[in-house]
Amino acid sequence: MRALLVRETGWPNRMQVAEVPRPAAQALDADSVLVRVRAAGLNFADTLSIAGSYQEKQQLPFVPGAELCGEVAAVGAGVQGLQLGERVMGQVGAGAYAEWAVVHKDRLARVPAGMPDTQAAGFYIPYGTALCALRERGRLAAGETLLVLGAAGAVGLAAVQVGKALGARVIGVSRSPAKREAVMQAGADAFVAWSSGDLKDALGKAGVDPGVDVVLDMVGGDASAAAMRCLNFEGRLVVVGFTSGQAPALRANHILVKNIDIVGCYWGPYQQLRPVQTRRAFDTLLAWYGAGLLRPQIADSVPLEGVAHALEQLACGAYAGKVVAQISIPSGASE
Ligand SMILES: NC(=O)c1ccc[n+]([C@@H]2O[C@H](COP(=O)([O-])OP(=O)(O)OC[C@H]3O[C@@H](n4cnc5c(N)ncnc54)[C@H](OP(=O)(O)O)[C@@H]3O)[C@@H](O)[C@H]2O)c1
Repeated sequence: MRALLVRETGWPNRMQVAEVPRPAAQALDADSVLVRVRAAGLNFADTLSIAGSYQEKQQLPFVPGAELCGEVAAVGAGVQGLQLGERVMGQVGAGAYAEWAVVHKDRLARVPAGMPDTQAAGFYIPYGTALCALRERGRLAAGETLLVLGAAGAVGLAAVQVGKALGARVIGVSRSPAKREAVMQAGADAFVAWSSGDLKDALGKAGVDPGVDVVLDMVGGDASAAAMRCLNFEGRLVVVGFTSGQAPALRANHILVKNIDIVGCYWGPYQQLRPVQTRRAFDTLLAWYGAGLLRPQIADSVPLEGVAHALEQLACGAYAGKVVAQISIPSGASE
């Protein structure tokens, strides 16, 4: 099968599409599902994994890619309730940039009939992360104010929509004024272009009430401390990622004085450690999608051969929204 192959770690990376062995249905674990991949979602974390600096290390050579949608082609002996040919979306440790992939049954959700492959390929990680981070970790309640750092990214736009669905006032922050429209279209109540200096001042100057209850932090570095200064009494800072390249050092005296909670959200492990909670989360997310509350924004769609370049663009913050790779299997290829 065709797949993107990383032969040595490093970033940027001269990885190329290559022929690799297709996973065999006969060799499936009891809890695994073989998926014929239709599309794969590009993730910032792919760049870390390919660089060799991600928390979950891959053995070389490897096929990168963490998020996909496709059709069920075979199921392991312990998998119940999935039909062959059914469309699913899900997450893998690696291997999504390929024509076929093996996914654990607890890391899959059914794709609703009206959702196109491009949206489904980029739904599982951003929306699953946003709901876990805001509801379980950040305890965001209706009527509260949410501030999203990196609001025009994939998780950021998902968080704006999930925050609105949970009944919050949502402020989106991006470095780029050009991303205002994408963030406002996602449903934010306010947008502020900001990259350095006093964020609280910047919000005030933009006419936005700077008191917030929850910060969702995809950026890290100096932005985290600046956003923490906007938190109200008993505010929560949810640490999700470090697109700035730096994990922040935060002042414990500030945490104490305002009774602030700083919590981490690493959503991947929840899927297998809390499978019932994960299934319920997707019931909620797909109900919201059906009701028109979640509207995934696809910034670009590329072939497998275009993934390496698109990931370089993504790492520079070039996109507003999700980028997906469409993976067609050439006609006549044996299945
Ligand atoms: N913990 C989890 O379970 C989990 C799950 C998914 C993702 N993540 C992490 O969350 C972060 C965001 O993921 P994503 O998929 O939303 O990424 P994305 O689509 O690439 O968006 C990232 C955003 O970060 C902003 N940014 C700020 N400073 C940046 C810098 N120096 N370089 C590049 N971008 C910068 C960019 O926004 P502007 O240019 O508009 O400022 C960009 O839109 C990543 O660190 C990812 O690894 C964590």
